[in-house]
Amino acid sequence: MTAPQNKPDLHEDPIREHTYDGIQEYDKRLPNWWLWTLYGSIIFSIGYWFYYEQSGAGPTGIEKLESRMVELEAARLAAGVGKPEDSILWEMSRNEAFLSSGRRIYETNCVACHGTDLRGGVGNNLIDDTWLHGGLPSQMWDVISDGVLEKGMPGWGTLIGERSVSAVTAYILSYHEEGPEGQARPR
Ligand code: HEC
Repeated sequence: MTAPQNKPDLHEDPIREHTYDGIQEYDKRLPNWWLWTLYGSIIFSIGYWFYYEQSGAGPTGIEKLESRMVELEAARLAAGVGKPEDSILWEMSRNEAFLSSGRRIYETNCVACHGTDLRGGVGNNLIDDTWLHGGLPSQMWDVISDGVLEKGMPGWGTLIGERSVSAVTAYILSYHEEGPEGQARPR
């Protein structure tokens, strides 16, 4: 038997006392890259723990799931083309994803005449129970889409598209509840 070829170089690492099945171990110092990975992950875990568990800033898995479900639901509601049925418009009015886009559309295009609080100005009040053109969601959708040109309400269908008309209708509906015949009435 010749001496093993890859016998370790002479070094200072001490040999540990125990012997397992005739095998002895060097007491080697852990390499720096390994130690820094360990320290780094400890530091990271403290930040992670603080962000997600303590501060409440990071979304939890459930919150992420819920917001994804809202988006999926919004996509399902919007899947139909053209004018949605009354019941779908009511559902849209309870979907956060629709409401936030409806709110944006309202703030950009409608505030000037209907006011920030929807109580009207040049245009009429949209949160009372008086509807000049009917209080069914589909009737609102028609007025918004076609407008009432002789009275100064522009037709929005061609300007913002059907999907945005649906979203802004849903936004107005979110200030109402469904009356016995499906008409919007103030909450
Ligand atoms: C230039 C002013 C103006 C703007 C901008 C405007 N409206 Fe109007 N809107 C009116 C007027 C005026 C009426 C009342 C029409 C009538 O007397 O028949 C009206 C009526 C309506 C009605 C019918 C209310 C009812 O009682 O039946 C709805 C719904 C409505 N607007 C929604 C919107 C939405 C949504 C937007 C933005 C996308 C918008 N309007 C932008 C002036 C405006």
